[in-house]
Amino acid sequence: FDVPLLTIDGPGGAGKGTISSLIAERLGWHLLDSGALYRLTAHAAVKHGVALDNEVALAELAAQLDVAFPVEEGQPRTLLEGEDVSQAIRTEQAGERASQVAALPKVREALFQRQRDFCRLPGLVADGRDMGTVVFPEAQLKIFLTASAEERAHRRYQQLQEAGVDASLSSLLKEIQARDARDTQRSVAPLKPADDAITLDTTCLSIPEVVDRLTDLLAQRG
Ligand code: C5P
Repeated sequence: FDVPLLTIDGPGGAGKGTISSLIAERLGWHLLDSGALYRLTAHAAVKHGVALDNEVALAELAAQLDVAFPVEEGQPRTLLEGEDVSQAIRTEQAGERASQVAALPKVREALFQRQRDFCRLPGLVADGRDMGTVVFPEAQLKIFLTASAEERAHRRYQQLQEAGVDASLSSLLKEIQARDARDTQRSVAPLKPADDAITLDTTCLSIPEVVDRLTDLLAQRG
């Protein structure tokens, strides 16, 4: 029978990661952070000296990625070939490289089944760019989470400040706009809401407000 599925797509920095993990935790469902798979593919490529435009070699890497997502002392970790890369794959540069490899059709194909495998009972929250449009078109509830580029740059800036990292708001905004452009204009699986998605603009909403809203919507569909 059907596995309950919630897809949350949208541009980088809209809060998808935070919202998805809070909802998965509240419902006791599995969580797919599909962006992490693209980030890991790019990271593995740099590690093994594979050029970021070598589509065939990158697709092979993606198909054979040796990754694990253990939780240690309540902290989710990301391991690549046994090495903890949780921090390394979260930098702006890692996101930029991920978006480069994500534009290659053979890489997306190689990661397709790996993503489908996350769909298991009691349910799945899938976070990404094409979860509702390509990977899980059968999802009961599809959300497209957005916020203005300025608000997303501001949130990222605050996160970095809290982590004690120096950053410039204007260069963050430029990076966000460049990544948006690449993700929406690529020919394969471009970022766009599914026809049956509900768009939620979070520019003026707090995290708990968004989580409550989505939990209500899910209950209505259940
Ligand atoms: O969501 P996150 O910032 O981790 O994603 C990194 C990059 O991976 C995105 O900019 C996008 O290019 C790509 N991506 C994708 N499809 C997904 C998830 C992420 O193309 N489902």
